[in-house]
Amino acid sequence: MPPEMASRMSNPGSTVPAETRLLAADAAGIAEAAALLRAGRLVAFPTETVYGLGGDATDPNAVAGIYAAKARPSFNPLISHVPDAEAARAQGVFGEEANRLADAFWPGPLTLVVPASAGTRVCELARAGLPSVALRVPGSEAARALLAAFGRPVAGPSANRSGRVSPTCAAHVLEDLNGRIAAVLDGGDTRVGLESTVVACLGGRARLLRPGGITRERLRDVLGYDPEGPEAADTHAPVGPGLLASHYAPNAAVRLDATRIVPGEALMLFGAFRPEGHDAARAVVNLSEAGDATEAAARLFGALRDLDASGAATIAVVPIPPEGLGEAIRDRLGRAAAPR
Ligand code: TXA
Ligand code: MG
Repeated sequence: MPPEMASRMSNPGSTVPAETRLLAADAAGIAEAAALLRAGRLVAFPTETVYGLGGDATDPNAVAGIYAAKARPSFNPLISHVPDAEAARAQGVFGEEANRLADAFWPGPLTLVVPASAGTRVCELARAGLPSVALRVPGSEAARALLAAFGRPVAGPSANRSGRVSPTCAAHVLEDLNGRIAAVLDGGDTRVGLESTVVACLGGRARLLRPGGITRERLRDVLGYDPEGPEAADTHAPVGPGLLASHYAPNAAVRLDATRIVPGEALMLFGAFRPEGHDAARAVVNLSEAGDATEAAARLFGALRDLDASGAATIAVVPIPPEGLGEAIRDRLGRAAAPR
């Protein structure tokens, strides 16, 4: 008899967590997902960046459930997802710069941190007690259909256990959260593969808090200046999970800018460059043979999971240029490589 069955039988009153349901991203699946959210349950949903672990942002019990499912420290503020800019403007105060960025990039991989409006329904727990609120209109149609059907903001950090690599498909979500959430809405592989760019518009110049799916170059085109930030990651400041130094951590250690590899290391390639000793790698994934940063971003988290699964103690990563999405890719790899 498997041990878990034995313990269930010897302890019949215990609540055995139910399996997480996999819902198709069609009309029926979306209606079911919205009904679960309305009942205060948690549903992982596909965005164009990564899968989000969704819960009712207006309900502190649902938000507490998100922190519990992720095993995340509760001082981290969450992004509230809304179906359109109008819904966002009901929750936050949009100045000129926030409006320009929203007009240019929503729906899409941009999160705006703005002052919370007086009538905001995003609960304090989701905002970690801050007077600001992080809002995003996601690019995926399934996500917007769910948000419109639900009709309230949905708090959604990436749908992984805290400190683990962000999920870019439903199977990744289940690896981390099966039995801990009610359902996953399966929208296939995410298109961008990296989390949204987080920009603070709190008066004065806009500030880049987290590089992501919208590049610094594109922000500059809209703002007319290069936004300051991100500041060097501070491991102790309670700013947010994507800003903790050690985040996105696979089990293996990560070694950046590798130009030669030690036998038995797993190897992450980019483009045509081959480090010295590459033949002795235990496992190899090329993020983009063509050296295309957009393709590389979409593959990054899946590649980290695959190379980690090889059992190698270290993942060596070749140099990746910081242009375009390269900035966000290097940011995530730097966090994966941080001491922990
Ligand atoms: O692409 C994404 O952004 C994904 C998908 C699911 O939308 N979500 C995501 O959420 O990455 P999460 O919780 O892993 O990251 C939220 C980021 C953190 O870096 C946090 O610091 C920042 O947003 N943030 C949220 N509210 C904030 C606030 N009021 N002030 C400053 N930063 C805030
Ligand atoms: Mg995350």
